[in-house]
Amino acid sequence: MARHSFIAGTGAYLPECIVTNDELARSVDTNDAWIHDRTGIRQRHIAGPRETCAHMGAAAARAALCQAGAEPGEVDAVILATSTPDQAFPATALRVQAELGIANGFGFDLAAACSGFIYGLSVADGMIRTGQVRSALVIGSEVYSRIMDWHDRTTCVLFGDGAGAVFLRATEEPDRGVLSTHLHAQGGLGDILYVDGAVGRHDRPGTLVMNGREVFRHAVTRLVETVEEALAANRLTHDAVDWLVPHQANRRIIDAVARKLGMNAERVVVTVDRHANTSAASIPLALAEAVGDGRIRRGDLVLMEALGGGLTWGSALARF
Ligand code: ACO
Repeated sequence: MARHSFIAGTGAYLPECIVTNDELARSVDTNDAWIHDRTGIRQRHIAGPRETCAHMGAAAARAALCQAGAEPGEVDAVILATSTPDQAFPATALRVQAELGIANGFGFDLAAACSGFIYGLSVADGMIRTGQVRSALVIGSEVYSRIMDWHDRTTCVLFGDGAGAVFLRATEEPDRGVLSTHLHAQGGLGDILYVDGAVGRHDRPGTLVMNGREVFRHAVTRLVETVEEALAANRLTHDAVDWLVPHQANRRIIDAVARKLGMNAERVVVTVDRHANTSAASIPLALAEAVGDGRIRRGDLVLMEALGGGLTWGSALARF
């Protein structure tokens, strides 16, 4: 078998501060029943002043290296997916590189909104396949609390902060590893979910704006398409999949995709109830939880999928 990557370790970091729906309802006109019925969310973690994208990403990456039994010196590349970096530059990936004491290799940030982890996994796996690197940290780290309009009840109830990471190593073992990744984007749909500013704009840093109904409609259609694409490319059916680890945007989107694929709820990893939507961090956070509690085991086939601002979307299939 040709060289490819496998997930040797997973790690997570969640801020200590938890804000429940009831607590949120004290500052914005909403309630637990509305939020839970429409999204499945009960609470979210919110970063404190010292919990930045780099800080959380480094903590998750350290945990992934520890689980893999790897030393920082073994890391050839750090790829960090985020929409909420610490600074315009240096890349937050390099702040993480420095914090972990990684002296070699290279690193960069990747912006693909909620699909960022799938994009990062795809880039890292490609680099390992071509022999450019032997290993890579792929991190999703987000502080969406800092790009929320906390007066807009239609968006601020949906998101949370956190970071997740995986450590990829090269392998030629045929029975494990990343089998495929599929990426998509449609820039023409950029206006249904975006941040209305950036560091490059003198007038505003920006907050998140969303047409929820449009996002919902595209999400279910595109996610089912890309999951079917992944299965077809590997000549597999959904019965072969042990775990679906979806981007955790919304319980109704997760359930609709699982239903269309004929996958029962016991095979779907769900964290949105406790983490809300942590964008690029949501899949590696869910992976870390399910590996940590023993649900995902060596040999299991795991299907990941995400859709986010851009629009971007994609899927990845990996044997643990
Ligand atoms: N609390 C109470 N009421 C609210 C809230 C709130 N937090 N937010 C909106 N409402 C009200 C609206 O004002 C509206 O009231 P009205 O009928 O008097 O005008 C009513 O609830 C219905 O609003 P809708 O926007 O039509 O609600 P909908 O059923 O579409 O649900 C939601 C909104 C949950 C955002 C839904 O569209 C959705 O799930 N969209 C997917 C978007 C998503 O998950 N985005 C995450 C980022 S993208 C990604 O990661 C894939």
